[in-house]
Amino acid sequence: MTAYPGEQTLAHLSDLHLGRRRADHLAARRLVEQLLVEGIGHVVVTGDLTAHGRRAEWEDFCALFAPLERTGRLTLVPGNHDRGTDDAASQMMKGERVRVRQRPGLYLVRVDSTAPHNRAPFRSHGEVCAATLAAVDQALGEAPPGSLVGLLLHHHLTRLPVEGLGEWFADTIGWPHASELKLGHRLLALALGRCDLGLHGHRHVPRHFEAIAPNGRTLDVHNAGSSTELQACRVFRHAGGRLLAPPRWVHLSPRPSRWTSAAPVPLAALSRP
Ligand SMILES: [Fe+2]
Ligand SMILES: [Fe+2]
Repeated sequence: MTAYPGEQTLAHLSDLHLGRRRADHLAARRLVEQLLVEGIGHVVVTGDLTAHGRRAEWEDFCALFAPLERTGRLTLVPGNHDRGTDDAASQMMKGERVRVRQRPGLYLVRVDSTAPHNRAPFRSHGEVCAATLAAVDQALGEAPPGSLVGLLLHHHLTRLPVEGLGEWFADTIGWPHASELKLGHRLLALALGRCDLGLHGHRHVPRHFEAIAPNGRTLDVHNAGSSTELQACRVFRHAGGRLLAPPRWVHLSPRPSRWTSAAPVPLAALSRP
């Protein structure tokens, strides 16, 4: 693979659920080791870092990702599971709903899409309000030219295929627990034309789609899925504020999950009937 002048790399992980199983800790450790070996420029983790929001789980995450954090190469947003027992989520964005992180070649708009109702484990849906939308609007408007602009949050912006019986049941009877963000379409509209990457998690099966704005700018939206279940994560190449190619998957397993080669979700499938 030929390196492009000024090329940088960005890895996207999500839904590690540390504290759930020993295997999740091992997979997270091996993924970090692999990203360090590959010299990845920056790493984004979009929530559900912990299984129950416990302090010990958060400390486990901090220890595993310390080499990236120490070198300024780690950016986080909280997920619904992080709102659990000890509210580990409160450590991630210091109580702010929107924060911007700038790194060389990157302008990352972080959105906390969790809410107090997430303290009940089955009430997993996210929430953003009008004030959050206004803050995102302002942050995107201040993005400097020449940087890759990313919108990072935990919950999905659009309807996605249902995963599992629980989600099917909730979806069928109209519970919001498995639904996309109620104002997700508004966030998407704000991002279109001003943002290059939408990165989220929450759903554990990876998905992606792209939308092209009237100004010609492409917005690529990726759900990382559960990186520890998949034992894999995507890596993006970028330079001069643009993606250079479709992302590639970094796999730990010699037999990659079938989900990591899934086709893009057709746009028509992303809106409610
Ligand atoms: Fe999750
Ligand atoms: Fe989640």
